[in-house]
Amino acid sequence: MTVSLVILAAGQGSRMQSDLPKVLHPLGAVPLVLHALRAGQMLMPERVVVVVGHGGDAVAKVVTEENPDAVVVQQAAQLGTAHAVDQARAALDGVAGDVVVLYGDTPFIRSETLEAMLAARATHDVVVLGFHAADPGRYGRLVATGDRLERIVEFKDATEAERAITLCNSGVICASREALFALIADVGNANAAGEYYLTDIVGLARARGLSAGLVTCAEAETLGINTRHELAQAEAAFQARMRREALENGVTLCAPETVYFAQDTVIGRDAVVDQFVVFGPGVTVESGAHIRAFSHLEGAHVSRGAVVGPYARLRTGAELAEDVRVGNFVEIKNAELGEGAKVNHLSYVGDATVGARANLGAGTVTCNYDGVFKHHTDIGEGAFIGSSTMLVAPVRIGAAAVTGSGSVITSDVPEGALALGRAKQETKPALGKRLMDRLRAMKAEKTKG
Ligand code: UD1
Ligand code: CA
Repeated sequence: MTVSLVILAAGQGSRMQSDLPKVLHPLGAVPLVLHALRAGQMLMPERVVVVVGHGGDAVAKVVTEENPDAVVVQQAAQLGTAHAVDQARAALDGVAGDVVVLYGDTPFIRSETLEAMLAARATHDVVVLGFHAADPGRYGRLVATGDRLERIVEFKDATEAERAITLCNSGVICASREALFALIADVGNANAAGEYYLTDIVGLARARGLSAGLVTCAEAETLGINTRHELAQAEAAFQARMRREALENGVTLCAPETVYFAQDTVIGRDAVVDQFVVFGPGVTVESGAHIRAFSHLEGAHVSRGAVVGPYARLRTGAELAEDVRVGNFVEIKNAELGEGAKVNHLSYVGDATVGARANLGAGTVTCNYDGVFKHHTDIGEGAFIGSSTMLVAPVRIGAAAVTGSGSVITSDVPEGALALGRAKQETKPALGKRLMDRLRAMKAEKTKG
């Protein structure tokens, strides 16, 4: 069955009190709109249309980075959800199959639920996703008999009897493209809000002799974000789910409530994650790796048997092979560390390739940035970099080469060589004691006067 998506993301979200469009606020380190988009994309849609308005350019950029084929359309004035969907009419012209309408501010929707709605299309022309609300508040109410929908009535327009209904509209709707746009063409705005309600298509469908059906899901799945408070609650719910899933998948979390995940974090079975670890976007940790306490990872890949932290920072492009060791107060950025390489203390390794079993002493720094350009450092297999070596890139250290502690290395070191790039030490017998005696005498003279 061919399906297309329309994601509504034009609303201002004024209750967020933000200059950032609501749908770009992050949940699990990923903008809200991408949660809905990724759930929808599991359906392998023929076409994806995202309707933007406020901050449209910024939303369009995020959407097209995720899916370059997505069509972004502008809704200049927000005249209601039916008007918003109507903006996708031209973009879906001639596309066969069904259309699923999602909201960009509703991040927990599951693709399984969308599949259930598509399945229900076999028996109904229009399918609406509903839920039983603990507090129905201002949600649209579903007037239904069993799984047959009569109409949807918005809170503002509802009678007391209708407001007593607790079966509510999530906003997710599915119909064939032809039916959807034919029905939308008949939607008016003579209602309490003066808006074009998408929800009116249910009553209009029934009036035409079409059938409207209902699929229900848990309320938590349809949670929409309108305020920072709701965003914080959603983040807590999201983290709780990620922790539960990690534990179920065989990851050891020593203190689950202190570990924070991104939406795309992948952690293998029997990996161990200690206390207070933060995973930003794009992290994969393989089976059996160990992430020790107070580490921060993003855009990184940690292979089997590697140990990271405590107090380590892995930034984008950190690629750790098997059995690598990255210790305390070490930052790795855009660098590949070969099997068994060790960077144990107080180091910065950026824009580098480190060969297998190389050992970088405490305080090693790749000086990768000259203020304008970034340069690469290449460290060969089994090299030994002495403590506090400054590797001024671009520079290449050969396999099994050694640098002396405190060296500033500005030119390439051949395989197996020893490089010393530091001032020669001078030692003056007895001079240290004589100097201190003189200084102490001066101090004594001063305090007397
Ligand atoms: C809508 C539903 C209501 C449902 C509720 C669930 C209608 C008329 N009502 O109400 O039945 O219970 O969602 O959360 O559909 N949007 C646009 N352009 C517009 C208007 C809205 O893109 O012109 C987007 C918003 O950014 C938002 C979504 O559509 O993501 C829903 O709009 P909103 O105004 O929040 O609808 P509700 O009044 O909450
Ligand atoms: Ca809303």
